Amino acid sequence: MAARTGPIVILTGAGISKESGLDTFRCEGGIWHQVRLEDVATPEGFARDPTRVQAFYNDRRRGLLGDTIRPNTAHEALARLERDWGDQVLLVTQNIDDLHERAGSESLLHMHGELLKARCGHCHAVHVWRTDLGTGDVCEACGAEGRLRPHVVWFGEIPLYMEQIMDALNRCALFMAIGTSGTVYPAAGFVAEVRERGWAHTAELNMEPGHGASLFAEIVQGAATQTVPAYVERLLADGIPG
Ligand code: APR
Repeated sequence: MAARTGPIVILTGAGISKESGLDTFRCEGGIWHQVRLEDVATPEGFARDPTRVQAFYNDRRRGLLGDTIRPNTAHEALARLERDWGDQVLLVTQNIDDLHERAGSESLLHMHGELLKARCGHCHAVHVWRTDLGTGDVCEACGAEGRLRPHVVWFGEIPLYMEQIMDALNRCALFMAIGTSGTVYPAAGFVAEVRERGWAHTAELNMEPGHGASLFAEIVQGAATQTVPAYVERLLADGIPG
């Protein structure tokens, strides 16, 4: 029987960018151990203190654009898989960094938004934004002042591209979750969604087993820069397991 080569849905989380020098959220010393998410990652926090929230994302945007942060071999391996298997691969990331893009991935959906974009609270236009964002900035589309916010999905808001993602999950032959703790829905529920149909292979590649680890047919434990290139090589050589 010919090896199955797709379709594949790959979900990534902060763990894939850890070895590029970006913090995760819930590991020891992670972002939510440094600052309360209620203060900087909710609409209520933004309404309460927009300057504080803008400063939190300005720091992370400056960090991301620093010259020491670059894609690692895990990002590069996923880009190679897409190059070899074309439109069979959809990468869904929870991350707001641009390391998948910089590694060459194009079939990519940022379900939690993007740190290098700003959105107007008045007209909802989205702009590429690579400098500090402040309460005095003006939206180029509608001219409103002080209404621009990071184009990031906060807790309590609806993630982006959900219809497209659910459709891809319902058609995939392989679902992989890489470097995510499986604590935040709806992303944490994707593996259960795939298992319901019963015929797709599911694999979790993680440093520590995520909350939904027991739902995956295959668990590969280790650092993403070790596990992801090896897993991609196996896929390219032997097709999808099972
Ligand atoms: N290689 C692989 N996995 C790693 C590595 C590594 N080098 N380092 C850490 N990990 C794993 C951890 O074991 C953990 O399972 O990455 C995961 C990071 O989990 P979180 O910090 O919870 O990040 P994530 O799952 O992406 O969070 C989901 O929560 O706060 C929101 O919007 C935010 O998108 C984020 C969402």
